[in-house]
Amino acid sequence: MEQLKTRTLFFTIFSLFFALFSFVFSATTEDPSAKIANYTKWRKLTPNAVLMPSNVAALCAAPNPNQPEDPHKDKFFNVYINSIGEKTMLGHNPAKFPVGTVIVKEKLPSKNSSTPELLTVMIKRETGYNSEHGDWQYLVFDSTGTNTASGKLDNCIKCHDSQKNQDFVYKNYFQK
Ligand code: HEC
Repeated sequence: MEQLKTRTLFFTIFSLFFALFSFVFSATTEDPSAKIANYTKWRKLTPNAVLMPSNVAALCAAPNPNQPEDPHKDKFFNVYINSIGEKTMLGHNPAKFPVGTVIVKEKLPSKNSSTPELLTVMIKRETGYNSEHGDWQYLVFDSTGTNTASGKLDNCIKCHDSQKNQDFVYKNYFQK
């Protein structure tokens, strides 16, 4: 009887540890594409696709593109924001975006295209994630929706740091 109790106790403790471990593991390996699922239903900040300057088109992109961009080919973009960040984006103050804000920039091969060739994404992370650069996580997804880069990407930070006074977000495409 005593032995059975001990066994039950061990089993319970083991199960609890297993559950905790699975939870932590799934939280840290979460698929980043879940964060942008259905982004086309979010608030669209560009009523019509905007012409992207060719120097930006080449650089606001994957750090190591397989195919170098043709610098003379015009690209277009749309920007979407999730509901968490919407109010701050639409506000007039250069306020900080709340944790959980997700901004998606679609890069399009032509003005009326509905098939982005690339997505660049910013996710506002918890305070301390990367404080010096606004705690933004930068991500890139290819045309198939596969995440190809993610994290504190130097390549992205280099340009976005110039927008420090408005929480590292350009917003230049967006007329209030
Ligand atoms: C050459 C400078 C440059 C680099 C490098 C760059 N960006 Fe940008 N990014 C811009 C500019 C400029 C805009 C404003 C829209 C426009 O004019 O294309 C922008 C806009 C964005 C936006 C829309 C939110 C906003 O800031 O208004 C996202 C999301 C974004 N970039 C993500 C990224 C990611 C992810 C990377 C790295 C893979 C990156 N950017 C690298 C210049 C850059």
